[in-house]
Amino acid sequence: MKDFLTTLGLTQGELIELIESARRFKSGEDNTQPLKGKSVGLVFFNPSLRTRASMQVGIYDLGGNPVVLEPGGTSWTLEHRDGVVMDGDKTEHIAEFVRVLERYCVAIGVRTFADLKDWQEERIDPVLSAFARYASVPVINLESAMHHPCQSLADMMTIREKLGHERKRVVLTWAWHPKPLPMAVPNSFALATAQMGHDLVIAHPPDYQLDEELMKTVKDAAQTSGGSVETTHEIEEAFGGAEVIYAKSWGSKLFYGNSEQDLLTRAKYRRKWIVDDAKMERTADAIFMHCLPVRRNVIVTDAVLDSTASVVIDEAENRLHAQKAVLKRLMT
Ligand code: CP
Repeated sequence: MKDFLTTLGLTQGELIELIESARRFKSGEDNTQPLKGKSVGLVFFNPSLRTRASMQVGIYDLGGNPVVLEPGGTSWTLEHRDGVVMDGDKTEHIAEFVRVLERYCVAIGVRTFADLKDWQEERIDPVLSAFARYASVPVINLESAMHHPCQSLADMMTIREKLGHERKRVVLTWAWHPKPLPMAVPNSFALATAQMGHDLVIAHPPDYQLDEELMKTVKDAAQTSGGSVETTHEIEEAFGGAEVIYAKSWGSKLFYGNSEQDLLTRAKYRRKWIVDDAKMERTADAIFMHCLPVRRNVIVTDAVLDSTASVVIDEAENRLHAQKAVLKRLMT
């Protein structure tokens, strides 16, 4: 594992090894400091609470020094395209940025969200891919246009921690939100759930299907792991018998770059596509998960978010332990 860009390419055994390593960090069984005397670059093109704080704390815990850079804010604006005439608003090319940064840092984490403008361009993760292409040190995806593997690793750890090692019925449900959001979290959650061999149900309204190639990868992963994948447009039905409810909103790729059309299309789902008590009662005492930040009484009601079923704070804590496991693995 040179980089950690997605969980794709990791076997189920390797994912479990990472989760076990994270568990050992959490319990205090592992106090090793593989980053002692070393620095890790953290490049944030977008805002963050959990990812930024947990990476900074995790690097410190491992004996290292986090170097946070914000292109266009506290560092120069960055161009990622090759062969362009840089006479616009971009000051530095990723080619130099990365090759300079790796003279100081043993790994580079990157957060670069989808712009939600051009689906065909963004679905190939152009900025993250440029970092990985130019870097000779490991690159860690801290959420790109298509994937958020640190989140999904923490999610899988949380499911295992709360519900044990057995295969579970896991529902990923779309939820109404006042604007289109990127698909990185649902993509990575679906993929990791399938890799872990769970029975995954993806519930979303028509027009909100995930990327076709991604779904093929998810189905292949489920076949390899012995899990299963189904999709449905019926939210109530999906909740029946669920052991995990994972809520997330995302934009439609059919209206990508056209948020007005997306908003018009999703308006009719506002009342129905929310996680509330009535839907949770249909489950088999499911835990409620969300990557956070979450809009209360939009994605999920106060009653569910504040109930004992909600594990969102433990899930956020597990980001710290999961990322320490990833950093340790990349350093060794
Ligand atoms: N879940 C997550 O990545 O949170 P932040 O956007 O706050 O980092």
